[in-house]
Amino acid sequence: MVREALNQDFNRINEIGLLIKDNFSTVYKIDEAVKNDYTHIYVYEEDNKVLGFIHIEDHFEITDVINIAVDKDSQGKGIGKKLLQYVIDNTKAEKLMLEVKENNIPAIKLYESMGFKQIHMRPNYYEGNINALIMERSI
Ligand SMILES: CC(C)(COP(=O)(O)OP(=O)(O)OC[C@H]1O[C@@H](n2cnc3c(N)ncnc32)[C@H](O)[C@@H]1OP(=O)(O)O)[C@@H](O)C(=O)NCCC(=O)NCCS
Repeated sequence: MVREALNQDFNRINEIGLLIKDNFSTVYKIDEAVKNDYTHIYVYEEDNKVLGFIHIEDHFEITDVINIAVDKDSQGKGIGKKLLQYVIDNTKAEKLMLEVKENNIPAIKLYESMGFKQIHMRPNYYEGNINALIMERSI
């Protein structure tokens, strides 16, 4: 099931977040982030174990997907889709937007499978001259 993250989930989220960045916990400070009214972190839990999370920010008509990650051993089982679908079902925004590294094929495939379309490309946005794709999906 997908539910709002609780304080007790933060260590596990920081652990899964290592798949995104090796300094995830210091960059995203999720314990601070959830104090904002516009930030939400949802987790996917199965048998009392958190297997993935999604971090979003609501900005009026747009919800930004900041991060999504699924535990390595649980990838490819539809959990990423469930997390995104939960956001789609619960946001009051008109569209979702996100930014993804051009070479992150699993993430791009997930977003495409959920109806996201590329609308811009930011050249050399990431370290190592990696382009960023900006993708969006209407609700
Ligand atoms: C991106 C990520 C969240 C996907 O989560 P997931 O639970 O494995 O994805 P799902 O099982 O829900 O798959 C969703 C779709 O993406 C596709 N997909 C997922 N992983 C894929 C891969 N490695 N290669 C190709 N396609 C892939 C699936 O085929 C599926 O499409 P379908 O329904 O049409 O078959 C996961 O790979 C991850 O945590 N990556 C590391 C963190 C990251 O890079 N996050 C994104 C940037 S913040």
